[in-house]
Amino acid sequence: MKSLIKKVQKQTKMSNILNKRYILKELIGEGGLCDVYKVDDLYDLHFKYESNIVAKIPNSKLKEHKDVSTLLYSEYRFLRKLNHPNIVKVLDFGIDKKSNIPYIILEYIEGKLLKDLPFFEMSKKFKLDIFKTLVKTINYLHSNNIIHADINPSNIIINDQNHLTLIDFGISKSIKNEEEIELNYSNVKAYNPNYCAPEILENELPTIESDYFSIASICFELFTLNNIKINNNKVILNNILKVPFLLRFWFKRNLMYKKSDRTVKKSNIYEKFLKFFYFS
Ligand SMILES: Nc1ncnc2c1ncn2[C@@H]1O[C@H](COP(=O)(O)OP(=O)(O)OP(=O)(O)O)[C@@H](O)[C@H]1O
Ligand SMILES: [Mg+2]
Repeated sequence: MKSLIKKVQKQTKMSNILNKRYILKELIGEGGLCDVYKVDDLYDLHFKYESNIVAKIPNSKLKEHKDVSTLLYSEYRFLRKLNHPNIVKVLDFGIDKKSNIPYIILEYIEGKLLKDLPFFEMSKKFKLDIFKTLVKTINYLHSNNIIHADINPSNIIINDQNHLTLIDFGISKSIKNEEEIELNYSNVKAYNPNYCAPEILENELPTIESDYFSIASICFELFTLNNIKINNNKVILNNILKVPFLLRFWFKRNLMYKKSDRTVKKSNIYEKFLKFFYFS
Protein backbone atom coordinates (compact mmCIF):
# COMPACT_ATOMS: atom_id res chain seq x y z
CA MET A 1 0.00 0.00 0.00
CA LYS A 2 2.76 2.44 0.97
CA SER A 3 4.54 1.89 -2.31
CA LEU A 4 1.28 2.47 -4.18
CA ILE A 5 0.78 5.78 -2.34
CA LYS A 6 4.36 6.78 -3.22
CA LYS A 7 3.88 5.81 -6.86
CA VAL A 8 0.62 7.76 -7.13
CA GLN A 9 2.13 10.73 -5.34
CA LYS A 10 4.98 10.78 -7.85
CA GLN A 11 2.54 10.81 -10.77
CA THR A 12 0.03 13.23 -9.25
CA LYS A 13 0.53 16.66 -7.77
CA MET A 14 0.23 16.35 -3.98
CA SER A 15 -2.50 19.02 -4.04
CA ASN A 16 -4.62 16.65 -6.12
CA ILE A 17 -4.83 14.01 -3.41
CA LEU A 18 -7.18 14.51 -0.49
CA ASN A 19 -5.82 13.14 2.79
CA LYS A 20 -3.48 10.74 0.96
CA ARG A 21 -6.53 8.77 -0.14
CA TYR A 22 -8.76 10.36 -2.80
CA ILE A 23 -7.09 11.25 -6.11
CA LEU A 24 -8.89 14.04 -7.95
CA LYS A 25 -9.49 13.25 -11.62
CA GLU A 26 -11.72 15.19 -14.03
CA LEU A 27 -14.04 18.02 -13.02
CA ILE A 28 -17.57 16.80 -13.77
CA GLY A 29 -19.80 19.44 -12.24
CA GLU A 30 -19.79 23.04 -11.13
CA GLY A 31 -22.49 24.34 -8.80
CA GLY A 32 -22.89 27.79 -7.33
CA LEU A 33 -20.93 26.78 -4.25
CA CYS A 34 -18.92 23.67 -5.04
CA ASP A 35 -16.92 21.83 -7.69
CA VAL A 36 -17.41 18.11 -8.16
CA TYR A 37 -14.60 15.80 -9.35
CA LYS A 38 -14.47 12.13 -10.25
CA VAL A 39 -11.98 10.55 -7.84
CA ASP A 40 -10.09 7.31 -7.35
CA ASP A 41 -9.89 5.87 -3.86
CA LEU A 42 -6.37 4.54 -3.26
CA TYR A 43 -7.79 1.49 -1.49
CA ASP A 44 -9.84 0.64 -4.59
CA LEU A 45 -6.69 1.02 -6.71
CA HIS A 46 -4.84 -1.25 -4.31
CA PHE A 47 -7.49 -3.98 -4.49
CA LYS A 48 -7.98 -3.32 -8.23
CA TYR A 49 -11.58 -2.14 -8.11
CA GLU A 50 -13.17 0.80 -9.87
CA SER A 51 -14.10 3.60 -7.48
CA ASN A 52 -17.11 5.23 -9.15
CA ILE A 53 -17.17 8.01 -6.63
CA VAL A 54 -16.92 11.79 -6.65
CA ALA A 55 -15.56 14.44 -4.31
CA LYS A 56 -17.50 17.64 -3.71
CA ILE A 57 -15.20 20.47 -2.64
CA PRO A 58 -15.80 24.22 -2.21
CA ASN A 59 -15.19 26.39 -5.29
CA SER A 60 -12.96 29.45 -5.16
CA LYS A 61 -15.88 31.73 -4.10
CA LEU A 62 -16.94 29.47 -1.23
CA LYS A 63 -13.38 28.73 -0.06
CA GLU A 64 -13.28 32.23 1.47
CA HIS A 65 -16.49 31.65 3.46
CA LYS A 66 -15.87 31.00 7.13
CA ASP A 67 -18.60 28.35 7.36
CA VAL A 68 -17.36 26.31 4.43
CA SER A 69 -16.50 23.11 6.31
CA THR A 70 -19.73 23.38 8.33
CA LEU A 71 -21.73 23.60 5.09
CA LEU A 72 -20.17 20.43 3.71
CA TYR A 73 -20.35 18.63 7.04
CA SER A 74 -24.05 19.54 7.27
CA GLU A 75 -24.66 17.98 3.83
CA TYR A 76 -22.78 14.85 4.97
CA ARG A 77 -24.86 14.59 8.19
CA PHE A 78 -28.17 14.86 6.33
CA LEU A 79 -27.22 12.38 3.61
CA ARG A 80 -25.85 9.90 6.13
CA LYS A 81 -29.32 9.64 7.70
CA LEU A 82 -30.96 8.73 4.40
CA ASN A 83 -31.25 5.51 2.48
CA HIS A 84 -33.47 5.83 -0.58
CA PRO A 85 -33.07 4.63 -4.20
CA ASN A 86 -33.69 8.16 -5.51
CA ILE A 87 -31.30 9.99 -3.20
CA VAL A 88 -27.52 10.12 -3.71
CA LYS A 89 -25.49 8.19 -1.13
CA VAL A 90 -22.68 9.77 0.86
CA LEU A 91 -19.55 7.82 1.79
CA ASP A 92 -17.16 10.08 3.64
CA PHE A 93 -16.39 13.56 4.94
CA GLY A 94 -12.93 14.94 5.58
CA ILE A 95 -10.73 18.02 5.79
CA ASP A 96 -7.49 17.70 3.85
CA LYS A 97 -4.63 17.97 6.36
CA LYS A 98 -2.28 19.83 4.01
CA SER A 99 -4.61 22.32 2.29
CA ASN A 100 -7.40 22.52 4.89
CA ILE A 101 -9.93 21.93 2.11
CA PRO A 102 -13.10 20.17 3.35
CA TYR A 103 -14.74 17.58 1.13
CA ILE A 104 -17.47 14.99 0.95
CA ILE A 105 -17.25 11.77 -1.01
CA LEU A 106 -20.44 10.64 -2.81
CA GLU A 107 -21.37 7.80 -5.10
CA TYR A 108 -21.00 8.81 -8.77
CA ILE A 109 -24.39 9.22 -10.41
CA GLU A 110 -24.26 8.62 -14.13
CA GLY A 111 -26.70 10.54 -16.31
CA LYS A 112 -27.74 14.03 -17.29
CA LEU A 113 -29.07 16.90 -15.25
CA LEU A 114 -32.82 17.39 -15.70
CA LYS A 115 -32.07 20.95 -16.79
CA ASP A 116 -30.15 19.62 -19.82
CA LEU A 117 -32.87 17.23 -21.03
CA PRO A 118 -35.22 18.36 -23.83
CA PHE A 119 -38.62 18.60 -22.09
CA PHE A 120 -40.47 18.92 -25.43
CA GLU A 121 -39.24 15.47 -26.53
CA MET A 122 -40.33 13.63 -23.36
CA SER A 123 -43.39 11.41 -23.32
CA LYS A 124 -46.28 12.26 -21.01
CA LYS A 125 -45.71 8.97 -19.20
CA PHE A 126 -42.08 9.86 -18.48
CA LYS A 127 -43.10 13.30 -17.20
CA LEU A 128 -45.66 11.68 -14.95
CA ASP A 129 -43.01 9.25 -13.67
CA ILE A 130 -40.69 12.14 -12.83
CA PHE A 131 -43.52 13.89 -11.01
CA LYS A 132 -44.48 10.81 -8.98
CA THR A 133 -40.87 9.97 -8.11
CA LEU A 134 -40.14 13.50 -6.95
CA VAL A 135 -43.22 13.57 -4.71
CA LYS A 136 -42.44 10.16 -3.23
CA THR A 137 -38.81 11.09 -2.67
CA ILE A 138 -39.59 14.31 -0.80
CA ASN A 139 -42.31 12.56 1.20
CA TYR A 140 -39.56 10.18 2.34
CA LEU A 141 -37.28 13.12 3.13
CA HIS A 142 -39.95 14.96 5.09
CA SER A 143 -40.84 11.82 7.01
CA ASN A 144 -37.18 11.81 8.09
CA ASN A 145 -37.59 15.44 9.21
CA ILE A 146 -35.42 16.87 6.46
CA ILE A 147 -36.26 19.70 4.08
CA HIS A 148 -34.14 19.70 0.92
CA ALA A 149 -34.57 23.46 0.36
CA ASP A 150 -32.99 23.65 -3.10
CA ILE A 151 -34.91 21.31 -5.42
CA ASN A 152 -34.32 22.49 -8.97
CA PRO A 153 -33.43 20.91 -12.35
CA SER A 154 -29.67 21.26 -11.68
CA ASN A 155 -30.00 19.07 -8.60
CA ILE A 156 -31.76 16.17 -10.31
CA ILE A 157 -29.85 13.59 -12.38
CA ILE A 158 -31.63 11.18 -14.76
CA ASN A 159 -29.81 8.22 -16.31
CA ASP A 160 -30.31 6.24 -19.54
CA GLN A 161 -32.78 3.92 -17.81
CA ASN A 162 -34.81 6.97 -16.74
CA HIS A 163 -33.83 6.51 -13.11
CA LEU A 164 -33.95 9.76 -11.14
CA THR A 165 -31.54 10.80 -8.36
CA LEU A 166 -31.87 13.85 -6.15
CA ILE A 167 -28.53 15.44 -5.19
CA ASP A 168 -27.16 18.51 -3.41
CA PHE A 169 -28.25 18.64 0.21
CA GLY A 170 -25.86 21.54 0.82
CA ILE A 171 -28.49 23.87 2.29
CA SER A 172 -30.94 21.29 3.63
CA LYS A 173 -32.62 21.88 6.98
CA SER A 174 -33.92 19.82 9.82
CA ILE A 175 -37.69 20.17 10.33
CA LYS A 176 -37.55 19.69 14.07
CA ASN A 177 -34.40 21.74 14.53
CA GLU A 178 -32.94 18.73 16.32
CA GLU A 179 -29.29 18.17 15.49
CA GLU A 180 -29.44 21.37 13.49
CA ILE A 181 -26.03 22.62 12.54
CA GLU A 182 -25.78 26.35 12.85
CA LEU A 183 -25.29 27.75 9.33
CA ASN A 184 -24.78 31.27 8.19
CA TYR A 185 -25.85 31.72 4.57
CA SER A 186 -25.65 35.49 4.66
CA ASN A 187 -22.73 35.66 2.23
CA VAL A 188 -23.77 32.66 0.21
CA LYS A 189 -26.34 33.09 -2.55
CA ALA A 190 -27.82 29.68 -2.12
CA TYR A 191 -31.36 29.30 -3.48
CA ASN A 192 -32.34 29.00 -7.12
CA PRO A 193 -34.72 31.96 -7.58
CA ASN A 194 -36.51 30.33 -10.55
CA TYR A 195 -37.82 27.38 -8.55
CA CYS A 196 -37.90 28.46 -4.90
CA ALA A 197 -41.10 29.57 -3.18
CA PRO A 198 -41.75 33.34 -3.04
CA GLU A 199 -41.40 33.52 0.76
CA ILE A 200 -37.82 32.20 0.49
CA LEU A 201 -36.90 35.27 -1.56
CA GLU A 202 -38.30 37.32 1.35
CA ASN A 203 -35.74 35.58 3.62
CA GLU A 204 -38.18 33.17 5.31
CA LEU A 205 -36.79 29.77 6.19
CA PRO A 206 -37.55 26.82 3.89
CA THR A 207 -40.43 24.52 4.86
CA ILE A 208 -42.22 21.39 3.67
CA GLU A 209 -44.48 23.70 1.65
CA SER A 210 -41.54 25.40 -0.03
CA ASP A 211 -40.10 22.00 -1.10
CA TYR A 212 -43.50 21.17 -2.62
CA PHE A 213 -43.58 24.56 -4.35
CA SER A 214 -40.23 23.76 -6.00
CA ILE A 215 -41.38 20.33 -7.21
CA ALA A 216 -44.64 21.79 -8.48
CA SER A 217 -42.82 24.53 -10.34
CA ILE A 218 -40.35 22.07 -11.96
CA CYS A 219 -43.15 19.71 -13.03
CA PHE A 220 -45.34 22.58 -14.20
CA GLU A 221 -42.53 23.44 -16.60
CA LEU A 222 -42.23 19.78 -17.62
CA PHE A 223 -45.91 19.53 -18.57
CA THR A 224 -46.52 23.01 -20.02
CA LEU A 225 -43.01 23.84 -21.31
CA ASN A 226 -43.21 27.24 -19.64
CA ASN A 227 -42.06 28.53 -16.28
CA ILE A 228 -44.43 29.83 -13.66
CA LYS A 229 -44.46 33.61 -13.42
CA ILE A 230 -44.88 35.71 -10.30
CA ASN A 231 -46.57 39.07 -10.66
CA ASN A 232 -48.13 41.36 -8.04
CA ASN A 233 -48.08 38.69 -5.34
CA LYS A 234 -49.78 36.16 -7.61
CA VAL A 235 -48.39 33.04 -9.27
CA ILE A 236 -49.41 32.93 -12.93
CA LEU A 237 -49.88 29.47 -14.41
CA ASN A 238 -49.98 29.89 -18.19
CA ASN A 239 -51.07 26.82 -20.19
CA ILE A 240 -52.25 24.90 -17.11
CA LEU A 241 -54.57 22.91 -19.42
CA LYS A 242 -51.46 20.98 -20.49
CA VAL A 243 -51.19 19.54 -16.98
CA PRO A 244 -53.08 16.21 -16.69
CA PHE A 245 -56.65 16.98 -15.64
CA LEU A 246 -56.63 15.13 -12.30
CA LEU A 247 -53.43 16.85 -11.19
CA ARG A 248 -54.40 20.43 -11.97
CA PHE A 249 -55.81 21.12 -8.56
CA TRP A 250 -52.62 19.75 -6.92
CA PHE A 251 -50.52 22.16 -8.99
CA LYS A 252 -52.78 25.14 -8.28
CA ARG A 253 -52.71 24.46 -4.55
CA ASN A 254 -48.97 23.86 -4.24
CA LEU A 255 -48.19 26.91 -6.34
CA MET A 256 -50.28 29.37 -4.31
CA TYR A 257 -48.37 32.55 -3.55
CA LYS A 258 -49.11 32.46 0.17
CA LYS A 259 -47.65 29.51 2.06
CA SER A 260 -50.73 29.23 4.29
CA ASP A 261 -52.92 28.67 1.18
CA ARG A 262 -50.88 25.61 0.22
CA THR A 263 -51.51 23.45 3.29
CA VAL A 264 -54.32 20.87 3.24
CA LYS A 265 -55.80 18.45 5.71
CA LYS A 266 -54.52 14.91 5.19
CA SER A 267 -58.16 13.71 5.38
CA ASN A 268 -59.03 15.73 2.26
CA ILE A 269 -60.67 13.28 -0.19
CA TYR A 270 -58.71 14.64 -3.19
CA GLU A 271 -55.43 14.13 -1.28
CA LYS A 272 -56.47 10.58 -0.45
CA PHE A 273 -57.26 9.92 -4.11
CA LEU A 274 -53.84 11.30 -5.22
CA LYS A 275 -52.07 9.27 -2.57
CA PHE A 276 -53.76 6.10 -3.76
CA PHE A 277 -53.38 6.57 -7.53
CA TYR A 278 -50.18 8.55 -7.82
CA PHE A 279 -48.00 8.47 -4.73
CA SER A 280 -48.54 5.00 -3.27
N1 LIG B 1 -22.88 12.37 -7.00
C1 LIG B 1 -22.73 13.00 -8.17
N2 LIG B 1 -22.55 12.29 -9.30
C2 LIG B 1 -22.40 12.93 -10.50
N3 LIG B 1 -22.43 14.27 -10.65
C3 LIG B 1 -22.62 15.04 -9.55
C4 LIG B 1 -22.79 14.45 -8.26
N4 LIG B 1 -22.96 15.44 -7.36
C5 LIG B 1 -22.90 16.58 -8.05
N5 LIG B 1 -22.70 16.37 -9.37
C6 LIG B 1 -22.55 17.41 -10.43
O1 LIG B 1 -21.96 18.57 -9.87
C7 LIG B 1 -22.85 19.70 -9.96
C8 LIG B 1 -22.70 20.53 -8.71
O2 LIG B 1 -23.02 19.73 -7.57
P1 LIG B 1 -23.98 20.28 -6.43
O3 LIG B 1 -25.28 20.66 -7.03
O4 LIG B 1 -24.04 19.28 -5.34
O5 LIG B 1 -23.14 21.58 -5.98
P2 LIG B 1 -23.59 22.97 -5.39
O6 LIG B 1 -22.46 23.92 -5.57
O7 LIG B 1 -24.09 22.74 -4.01
O8 LIG B 1 -24.77 23.38 -6.33
P3 LIG B 1 -25.78 24.62 -6.26
O9 LIG B 1 -25.33 25.56 -7.33
O10 LIG B 1 -27.09 23.96 -6.62
O11 LIG B 1 -25.75 25.15 -4.89
C9 LIG B 1 -24.24 19.09 -10.16
O12 LIG B 1 -25.12 19.96 -10.83
C10 LIG B 1 -23.90 17.83 -10.99
O13 LIG B 1 -23.70 18.20 -12.35
MG1 LIG C 1 -26.60 22.04 -7.19
